[in-house]
Amino acid sequence: MTSEPRRLGVIFGGASVEHTISVRSAQAVIGAADTERWRVIPLAVSRSGHWLTPEHSRSALDAIQSGAPEEVPEPMIASSTPISHEATSALLDCDAVFPLIHGTTGEDGVLQGFLETLDLPYVGSGVGASAIAMDKARCKQILSQAGIPVAPWIAVACEDWRTDPTGVVRQASQLGYPYFVKPSRGGSSIGISRVNSREEAAEAIAMAFACDSEILIEEAIPTPREIECGVLGSLDGDSPIVSPLGEIRTKRDFYDYTAKYEDPQTELIAPAELDQETTLQLQNVSLQAWRAIGAEGMVRADFLVGPDGQIWLGELNTIPGFTSASMYPRLFEVSGLPLSQLVDRLVELGIERRLARRRFRAQADGGAHQ
Ligand SMILES: Nc1ncnc2c1ncn2[C@@H]1O[C@H](COP(=O)(O)OP(=O)(O)O)[C@@H](O)[C@H]1O
Ligand SMILES: [Mg+2]
Repeated sequence: MTSEPRRLGVIFGGASVEHTISVRSAQAVIGAADTERWRVIPLAVSRSGHWLTPEHSRSALDAIQSGAPEEVPEPMIASSTPISHEATSALLDCDAVFPLIHGTTGEDGVLQGFLETLDLPYVGSGVGASAIAMDKARCKQILSQAGIPVAPWIAVACEDWRTDPTGVVRQASQLGYPYFVKPSRGGSSIGISRVNSREEAAEAIAMAFACDSEILIEEAIPTPREIECGVLGSLDGDSPIVSPLGEIRTKRDFYDYTAKYEDPQTELIAPAELDQETTLQLQNVSLQAWRAIGAEGMVRADFLVGPDGQIWLGELNTIPGFTSASMYPRLFEVSGLPLSQLVDRLVELGIERRLARRRFRAQADGGAHQ
């Protein structure tokens, strides 16, 4: 006997700078979801944060498929609330949800908190781990405390910059030139620059502050190799698994926005050519980092490997790209897990997590009332 497919909400678009990538990720996940197991309910969110109904979301995807810009349109009738009754009831009817909004509002715990409040099972990390991974300043503190190598850095608040810009530039120069300046909560390399001399500092810092109220200034790893590792949760409480490693090669100064999405010369190599010792080391550190932030479901750990073979964990992504050109699904594909099975597993993990949380809550309530 075959059972009815369950309803899988796929949330995409959103108010982040990675809107277009999110649309592409959703197209890939929707295209791969096993239709015998899942009936996909698309839930598109416009750049202004308005949720479209499933019907309008589907029309938006159809239009994009036929060549319209990769952009969720704003709702035709202006609404004062970001989410209509119709979109809310479609969301509440879902058996599970796959949040695929990258960056702020989607990957930083905000959407996860909303889904928790609605008691919906969802893919990926919970509120805490999502918020930590998105905030590079907080994340680096936690990672370094766990003994994970991260490039030396300072965090600068907007207030420090406003009151003492000279002092900030002086403090940054102690890291040595060149250094990297980046918004603490960003993505897709937006607002990031490499500063080669004191003269370039102010402009780079102002650019990063245009994206966030806190920034990082980080020692530059010279001519690094960019290596990525996927981590995937396991059902029944088993340890998470790590993927083979992937490498990104760019001809640009660093892996900036253009290199990521526009430059046809950027190469994704999976699996990467690395000796076994480095491979194991990077995979172990990925697992360590997963535990350090309390990740669930999936994480892509991005490393910089120096010319001397020294490794540095650059950042953790709790909603990695799922586009047809993205590294996370590709790394599992090369290890024998096609995207449709990866999606299945991620969704089942979200369902399992909700059941486990309910059990813990029931136990805690029982204990509290004894
Ligand atoms: N400390 C560093 N040394 C060398 N390159 C860096 C450093 N920090 C960032 N980069 C370059 O900038 C890119 C984007 O930085 P990252 O911290 O991953 O931000 P994002 O979240 O925007 O991807 C990296 O992939 C790398 O090419
Ligand atoms: Mg990055």
